[in-house]
Amino acid sequence: MKTITANIKEGIDQEIITEAGSILKDGGLVAFPTETVYGLGGNALDEQAAEKIYAAKGRPSDNPLIVHIAEFEALNKIAAEIPEEAKMLADAFWPGPLTMIFQKTDLVPMGTTGGLNTVAVRMPDHPVALALIRAAGGYIAAPSANTSGRPSPTCAAHVQEDLDGRIEMILDGGPVGIGLESTIVDLSEGVPTILRPGYINQQMLEEVIGKTEIDRAILSDDSGIKPKAPGMKYRHYAPKASLTIVEGEQEKVTAKINELLKEGEAAGEKIGVIASTETAADYLGGILRTIGSRSDELSISRHLFGILRDFDTLQVDRIYSESFETPQMGQAIMNRLMKAAGHQVMEV
Ligand code: TXA
Ligand code: MG
Repeated sequence: MKTITANIKEGIDQEIITEAGSILKDGGLVAFPTETVYGLGGNALDEQAAEKIYAAKGRPSDNPLIVHIAEFEALNKIAAEIPEEAKMLADAFWPGPLTMIFQKTDLVPMGTTGGLNTVAVRMPDHPVALALIRAAGGYIAAPSANTSGRPSPTCAAHVQEDLDGRIEMILDGGPVGIGLESTIVDLSEGVPTILRPGYINQQMLEEVIGKTEIDRAILSDDSGIKPKAPGMKYRHYAPKASLTIVEGEQEKVTAKINELLKEGEAAGEKIGVIASTETAADYLGGILRTIGSRSDELSISRHLFGILRDFDTLQVDRIYSESFETPQMGQAIMNRLMKAAGHQVMEV
């Protein structure tokens, strides 16, 4: 299959959107930008499209897909019950980086939900995504547009790297704004529970709906706890090199990383370092990547996955990273970084 890449950075080109919409209506696959990461879209109400998505990503088919909508009213057809909390959260955060889980209706095929009776739904905050959803008939199932196990794509080139020749079209809307996948909150039973941390954190959710819980599997490095979002159990974002997070007082962290760097390079290894704008100048070698500024969380979240991909391309042997416990998105950033590190943390 030849994958067409369409440049849509300069605003909505209705002709391209219409073409992409027809591909989706005909059961094909189109990757598209959202504010979080690029998605790999197929018709959410078509079981065979879901199968194609799993095949293109090499993803286990028990891992459910998120259904993307462009209007709140679209929820009525796919969610069997819409609790009051969902309306409040939608008012506050949709369109935006929040996915909610509901009991599903029969309209949603089991292929889309990985065999579950619940469905995950999100209204993305991106003009290209919203236009595409409308052009495709209102319901697009879209996981992140990466090969299963690789970091989620934050620009069209990442999608190309993983899926070229496996999907019909890529809409290139430029780099994304957030760079980490949406927050997932389960509203299908009991106390609303956060299954995946993202840009919208627990405090922001609780300001709107009161008490929430966090799935224990997110907080723990005990792989024996089964996460409620099936996808969270997979080894994710893992770079080819071994990644270690070095935590502690910044001066000690920098000194430790410099020491490890020297040791590694003396042994003939290629060492990658993930630093912040504030500390980058203090490192004495290695392949240095400045992720962003500690005073601008989005600059950090936006660059994380791209840097991990970069280190794969450069075939580094070892990566050392600072820790990024930032105020709003710290939990989301560290959740991804810890997964990438296989929970290897060095305290100094
Ligand atoms: O930001 C995002 O959410 C991106 C963009 C493209 O919208 N999408 C995304 O999809 O990250 P994906 O498939 O990579 O991650 C979806 C996660 C998986 O961990 C999956 O297990 C979980 O959502 N999930 C989906 N439906 C679920 C359900 N019914 N119950 C529990 N977890 C569910
Ligand atoms: Mg994913």
